[in-house]
Amino acid sequence: MAISNPGVRTDVDLSPFNTLRLPARASRLLTIADPAQLADMAGDGTLAAMPRNVLGGGSNLVLPDVVDGLTLQVGIIGRRVIAEDDDAVYVAAGAGEVWHDFVMWTLAQGWGGLENLALIPGSVGAAPVQNIGAYGVEVKDTLHSLTAYRLTDGVGREFTNADCRFAYRDSVFKQEEAGRWLIAEVVFKLSKTGALQTGYGDIEAELNTAGLPRTPAGVAQAVINVRQRKLPDPALIGNAGSFFKNPIVPAAQRDALLAEYPKLVSYPMPGGAYKLAAGWLIEQAGWKGRRLGPVGMYEKQALVLVNHGGAQRADVAALTEAVQADVLARFGVMIESEPVWW
Ligand code: EPU
Repeated sequence: MAISNPGVRTDVDLSPFNTLRLPARASRLLTIADPAQLADMAGDGTLAAMPRNVLGGGSNLVLPDVVDGLTLQVGIIGRRVIAEDDDAVYVAAGAGEVWHDFVMWTLAQGWGGLENLALIPGSVGAAPVQNIGAYGVEVKDTLHSLTAYRLTDGVGREFTNADCRFAYRDSVFKQEEAGRWLIAEVVFKLSKTGALQTGYGDIEAELNTAGLPRTPAGVAQAVINVRQRKLPDPALIGNAGSFFKNPIVPAAQRDALLAEYPKLVSYPMPGGAYKLAAGWLIEQAGWKGRRLGPVGMYEKQALVLVNHGGAQRADVAALTEAVQADVLARFGVMIESEPVWW
């Protein structure tokens, strides 16, 4: 089907736009700099008549060889303060802003809340879709609301934090509203008081050994140091961050596993269930640093699938299934892949 919009490009190479560096091609691609473009295109019916996909930073995606229909690349930028009081500032950011750059900018203004989420690849608009999280903080903790536009007709609406139905690496945008909206702007409630979350993992130790100040900016630097040591830089080696979710199991199952494997890493969840460290399960199943064809599980963090060069979607799928099968056979736990598969 033809689209009259002159901004639409055809047969576009998406390899620069996905951090796993899969060689996908988009049948049609349009950069959205202003959500009004959607309403304009909806008028002639073309939007409703073809598959549509929204592309953010491409850091949590497994692409097929060809992406049919229309790929909408989000290029909506801008940062503005929309309200302020003694303790908090409400900041709106365009969905196309680079997440890490936005985080560092908020810290430079002296606002806290996003420091634990420094150096996560991707865009501001993608952050709420999977409720990005690291070092004990998730985007749901500071997200006030967002504005999204319906892909079929370009009509906008606000989603409050509650409307987003956030859960661990999950939101309404991965569930019942999947594929229906283009997130255009996200509003964060940031703190002026400097309360910090340093309890998770290596952050406290890194603050001490690196002699960093106990400020939001200091915590961000600790997070950056820890991430750079453990996680592959997508600019150097193709990857999509954690490739599996940490599985959540009932207490009885965790207790039985712990009896058999005293070194099992698990964290209690509200309600009595336990989250297991999938990286530990994968390492024990023998996959840390191991390759299958052109892909493998990263040598320093077994949860991260890496493209050693020349991988295609089928290679990623084969490794996903092999790792899932081995973890299931060894521990009786099914681990789910975390990125979105188009
Ligand atoms: N572990 C191993 N072997 C490994 C990897 C991890 O034994 O190869 C163990 C670690 O020793 C540790 C535990 O597993 O005891 C947890 O590891 P880590 O702190 O590295 O965190 P994670 O659970 O593997 C999660 C997030 C990361 C986030 C970190 C830090 C998910 C799916 N992943 O990983 O998020 O940076 O916590 O908060 O929840 C991402 O989503 O892309 C991502 C990188």
